[in-house]
Formats: sequence, C-alpha cells, structure tokens
Amino acid sequence: MTTTSEDWTARAAALADDIEKAGVPLSAEWRAAVGAVPRHVLVPEFYEQQGNQWRKVSRRQQLLEATYSLKTLVTHVTDGQPTSSSTTPTLMLRMLDWLDVHDGHDVLEIGTGTGYNAALLSARLGDAHVFSVDVEPELVELARQRLAETGYKPTLRAMNGADGMPDHAPFDRIIATCSVPHIPLTWFEQLRTYGLLLADLKLGMNAGNLVLLRRLPDRLEGRFVNRWGSFMSLRPEPAATLDPPAQQERSAGEVRERTTLIEGTPWFDDLVPWFMLHLDGTVQAGATFGVTMDSTLGRPDGTHLVDVDGSWCEVDLRVDGKPRRVRQGGDRNLWDAVENAYTAWAGLRHPGWERLGLTVTADHQTVWVDEPDGHRWPLPEPR
Ligand SMILES: C[S@@+](CC[C@H](N)C(=O)[O-])C[C@H]1O[C@@H](n2cnc3c(N)ncnc32)[C@H](O)[C@@H]1O
Repeated sequence: MTTTSEDWTARAAALADDIEKAGVPLSAEWRAAVGAVPRHVLVPEFYEQQGNQWRKVSRRQQLLEATYSLKTLVTHVTDGQPTSSSTTPTLMLRMLDWLDVHDGHDVLEIGTGTGYNAALLSARLGDAHVFSVDVEPELVELARQRLAETGYKPTLRAMNGADGMPDHAPFDRIIATCSVPHIPLTWFEQLRTYGLLLADLKLGMNAGNLVLLRRLPDRLEGRFVNRWGSFMSLRPEPAATLDPPAQQERSAGEVRERTTLIEGTPWFDDLVPWFMLHLDGTVQAGATFGVTMDSTLGRPDGTHLVDVDGSWCEVDLRVDGKPRRVRQGGDRNLWDAVENAYTAWAGLRHPGWERLGLTVTADHQTVWVDEPDGHRWPLPEPR
C-alpha cells in the first residue's frame, strides 16, 4: 500500500493521544515509540466478522482508520476461527508500562503475531534487544518482512513459545501475548534473577487474568494486575491442528429448579469467583457458556453454563432485582457450586485481582490471596 509518511505520522501521533485519553499514561519513550511505528505496514489487512463469516478488509482508507484506532484487529483466521490478532494498543501499552523496561534490557515476546509489539519494543530498546517467537511459521515470515520494511530486525523464530528462546536466554523481561493455564518452567529458567515476566494465566474461558511475576533466586512471584485482560490461548502446534470450538453437550434427564438471589453471572460479571470455581476444580477448562436472546426486546433473557461432564445450569435474566429462576441438570448442581464460590469470595472480603498473587517454583504453582502464605490454591494440573 502506498501511503505518504505525513498520512501515517500524524495518525500515529494522534493514536498516542488517544491511548492517553483512554487512561494509559505514556512515558516520553513509549509516546515516541507509538509515534515511530507505522502500524498499517505491520497490519496491511485484517478481518471483520459478518454473521459467522470473517471478511478480509484491506481498503486503504478503512485500513488507515482501523490501524490507528484503539481497536483489536483480527489478523489471521484458520478454519473460521481467529488465530492471531493485533491487540488494542491501549492494552499493549499498558502491558509495556507494567513490564518496566529500561535501556539495555533484553526482552522476549511470546506471540509475535503481526510484529506490532515487537516493533514498539524495537523502537524503545533497539532491535538487537528484542526477541519474539510465534508458533505459526507463516506469521513469523510475514512479520519478518513487514518489520524489515519499517526498518526493524528483531530476532524472530517460528517455534512453540512454551520453550522460550534458549539460545538467546537469559532475558531481563518476558511478555506473553497468548494465554497459558500454568507458567512454563522454561520462562522461569530463561529470565534473569530480578527480571519480570508478564503473562496471561487462564484456566478456562475468562477464568484468570494477566499476572506480573518477579524472578527471585528460587521462584517467580507476583500479583495479578488490577485491570482485566485476555489473549488467545497458547497452542502447542500451528492452528491447522485446532479442533472446532466445542459447545459442551448438556446431560439429558431430570431438570431441577430453584431460585437465586445472586444478581450477577460470574462468567461475565464476577471473574474472581469464576476463577475460584476453576481453582478448586468445580468447573473444568472446557466448560462453555452463553446467552439466549429475547428477540422482541433484543436483549438477553437467559444465560447458561455447561461443564465438560454435561452438568449444566441456566439462569433467567428477565427478572431484575427479584429471585431469578434457575434450572440445572446432570450429575452435579452447578449453580449451587456457583453460589458456594460467591460465599467463599465474600468470606475472603471480595478480593479483586490485585489481592490475588501467584508463586511458581520448580515443584508447584500456587495462587494466593493477599500474601503467599495466605489462603491459597494449587493450580490445577493442565488437562
Ligand atoms: C494476540 S496474538 C499476538 C499479538 C502480537 N503480540 C502483536 O503485536 O500483534 C497471539 C499470538 O500468539 C501466537 N501463539 C499461539 N500459540 C503460540 C505458541 N505456542 N508459541 C508462540 N506463539 C503462539 C498466535 O499465533 C498469535 O499470533
């Protein structure tokens, strides 16, 4: 695409302003990096969802508007599923701020995707200090070409990011832009002592958050961040091997009815108790949830959760402020377990993410409340 530098430099400067207006303070260095990176070169096309289809967008004007906006842009689709995206610049810059990089730091990124984040890091630190891996060889090759067009040559590899980049370790910082159900020990081993790791720990859909860990001599330790963020899952192999998204099947048989005074729906509204349900093993990683719509009013009238064993619950969303009707079936009363998680959360004085922390050693990974020796749960073994 031919675009004059005046076109994009003004847009990139305006993007930095918009990121700040959205509540992410930018240091002079990060502001300069946002202004220096032509995002439209790294994202020369993206996909928009229309019904069940993903439509490619590459028209110049639309592209310029989208790439210098705060939108997350889907950039790779395999068998109808998004498999790579360029995350909203507000989240990327917030994460780069949390990562607390300094001149001379070597940074490893897991999940190269478009290369936009690698370009920002290269603008900030110099490309000799930037290392990035993606499991998709095709994406790595495109990112390599487009980064070179922007003048950056960070070290890129097509490989499983769970293995880090052993031949360039140790790193001062590691940032993972795909989610993991536990922290790979290689990241611990490849981080310099007192270095920082920022990763997205997710035990299931919406069940977890970004966590910032410091490498101590014998462990990684730190807290979840006070904003919620989410990335696509780390895949052990390129996406061609992904299964279609699973909708769990409800068990047939007896339907049990009750009411509830709980107003929220944990999987959408109260993500800490939702995380706790996964930590104690009540809900499994593959559980699915959704809403049903009232087509007349155009708003949801119910929400449901189905766990991998077929146990399910369904909550009526039509009655505001009154006991809601609940139906549940299968071997376990799932909504009863949801209520127990709310009670346990209340017993801990409703911790938000910032009161939750994680300790990772060679032998165990433990989530805790307030202090490492406070109330705690071992991370469930990944399935
Ligand atoms: C949200 S995108 C990353 C966005 C990227 N940082 C950017 O600036 O555009 C997540 C990326 O993680 C990659 N990914 C998934 N599994 C991976 C793995 N095992 N190792 C490395 N990358 C992986 C995906 O292919 C995808 O490109």
